[in-house]
Formats: sequence, C-alpha cells, structure tokens
Amino acid sequence: MAATKTYLTGIQTSGMPHLGNYVGAIKPALEAAESNDTLYFLADYHALDSVKDPEKLRHDVRSVAATWLACGLDPERTLLYRQSAIPEVFELATILSSVTAKGLMNRAHAYKAARDRNAEAGVEDLDAGVNMGLFNYPVLMAADILVMAADVVPVGRDQRQHIEYTADIAGSFNHIYGSSYAFPIPQGAYPEGEGSMLPGIDGRKMSKSYDNHIPLFLPAGRLKKLVRRIPTDSTPVEAPKDPDSSAVFQLLSHFADEERTAAARKRLEQGGMGWGELKNELFEVLDATFGPMRERYDALMEPGSELDGILADGAARARERARATLARVRSAIGIA
Ligand code: ADP
Ligand code: TRP
Repeated sequence: MAATKTYLTGIQTSGMPHLGNYVGAIKPALEAAESNDTLYFLADYHALDSVKDPEKLRHDVRSVAATWLACGLDPERTLLYRQSAIPEVFELATILSSVTAKGLMNRAHAYKAARDRNAEAGVEDLDAGVNMGLFNYPVLMAADILVMAADVVPVGRDQRQHIEYTADIAGSFNHIYGSSYAFPIPQGAYPEGEGSMLPGIDGRKMSKSYDNHIPLFLPAGRLKKLVRRIPTDSTPVEAPKDPDSSAVFQLLSHFADEERTAAARKRLEQGGMGWGELKNELFEVLDATFGPMRERYDALMEPGSELDGILADGAARARERARATLARVRSAIGIA
C-alpha cells in the first residue's frame, strides 16, 4: 500500500483570501485532502510583519479560517489551526536560524524586492522599512513545514523559492544532526499550466500587496463594482478582440466551464462581444461559484460560531505532532 503523504500549507492572515489564493492554494489543497494526511494553517505571525493593527489581525485570522471552512475543508479530516497556537514552531525557527546561512536570506526574493524598491526611490539605506520579521520570513516558514514533518507543500509558484529554502535548511540540519534526527525533505506542489497565476484587476499577478485583488466573499453588489473596474481598452463592441490579452477573459476562463469559455472566446475573436458584456459574464460566473460559500462564510464569521472551537481543536491535535518533532530535535542538538 502506498503510504499517505503529509500535506501542509499556510495562508497569511492579512485580509480576506482572494481568487488567486483560491486557485493557487485553497482548491488544490482541498483536493489533496481527500486522500492524504493534511494540515492547513493560518500564518498569523507571518502576517504580523505587515499587519500592525490588532483589530484587523484578529478579524483576518477568523476570516481566513472561515474561508477554508466555507470552501469545504472538513475539520475532522484536516487539521486547521493558527500558527501562533503552536509555540514549537517558534522554538524550531530559533534552532533552524543557527543552521541557516545569512547569505541565503540576503538572496530571498521578498527581501531583495524591498531593497530594490528603496534603490528605485532613491532611498540611501536599502534596508529602510525592512523589519527582521521580513528578513527571517523564510526561516519561520521552514519551521512551519518541518515541525509537522510535511512531505508536500501545495502553494502557488511564487512560493517556490521558499520551498527550496526549506529544503536547503532541512538539508543543513540533517547534514549536522542526521544521525540522530533527520527532517523529511519537503517538496512543493505547484498548480500546473501557464494560466495558473491569476491576474488581478490591473493585469499584474493578483496579490493583496498590489491591491488588485478580488476578495472571495464580497457581497454581490461590491463584487459587481469591482469587476466593472477592471480596465479594458476602448475597442468598439463589433471589433474583433484578443481574448488572451484581457484579464477579464483570463479570469473567466478559470471559473467558467469550457463551453462558456469557448463561446466567449469565439465571440470576442469574431467581434460582437463588448468588454462590458464579458464583465457581466464574469460577474455571473463568480457570483454563482462563490455565492453559496459566501453564506456559509458569513455564518462562520458571526461571533460565537463554531469557528473558534474548530481552531482550538485543530491546534491541540497539531501541537501533539509539533511536540513530538521538537522532542526529537532537542535531543539531537543536545538541548534536552
Ligand atoms: P498575496 O500575494 O495576495 O499576499 P499570499 O502570498 O498570501 O497572497 O498567497 C497565499 C497563497 O495563494 C500562496 O500559495 C500563493 O502562491 C497563492 N497565490 C497568491 N496569489 C496568487 C495568484 N494570483 N494566482 C495563483 N496563486 C496565488
Ligand atoms: N509564505 C506563504 C505565502 O505567502 C504563507 C506561508 C507561511 C506558508 N508559512 C507557510 C505556505 C508554510 C506553506 C507552508 O503564501
């Protein structure tokens, strides 16, 4: 019998998840949950690097948890927990820091991007505005993964470097202490295909940090407004258009069935379908896909819903695993 694998992924709690998170992380993770051992968590200490408003952080933790559940996560099957409820993660992050080369962190994409932004803005200190949480981000992420001895980490392709770093860090640890304890080396599982990075309403990758995202459970009226705001050129209705250059079409093709997508493609290419009509289609498809989940989401967000109990239970079960790993790691490094 093939051994089941342990799948683990996290989402930062910095706002309601968006369509890109759904396609890149939530949906593939829920599919994996059908036949594997799965742990999905809320990366609230990763969010702390950027979210400095306690009310917002509290709200966003519940929002991300409610999203997982509304999208179909079964808490009996999958452990759903807050990162902050597992102190072993932070102990392991400290341990891993001592086997992680600083140079590796210097080359991390997010850190480098922050420095590039300073350089472009003419700021002399390239580290201005960079906190240690951002710099250490990859180490904390490695701890999230390794503390649960995960085999597979389903994430979007933008996370590839973080997964490679985790493998590197695990490798350094194993090299030194492997005769006593060795971490399994985790692998990333990335959505396939060119179109797997969803564009946002400005055509760049959909991301909270670009503020170009479509949150999953907006009330219908606000969803419609947001879809209407996606910029399109002024090609007249009757003129032929290139569907592939349009963010509206790319989004539609992710959520509409093949038939509907093919029909829209044909009408755009032949001329006769305007961008306004295409946007209406996109709104309808999104509303039909996410409307029923939105109701469940709203119920879970009510104070006193079953949400908090589910998180507490998930944390208790996840913590048992984390404790077991830490006991072995501590013994391997000589701190017992
Ligand atoms: P954001 O860029 O909005 O801050 P996160 O970095 O928190 O999103 O991403 C959470 C998960 O969703 C990751 O696995 C990431 O790869 C995936 N993801 C984020 N944006 C997209 C996108 N536009 N298309 C596909 N997957 C995405
Ligand atoms: N860095 C991930 C993101 O921004 C979130 C995350 C934190 C994560 N820890 C993780 C994902 C561990 C997978 C495994 O998307």
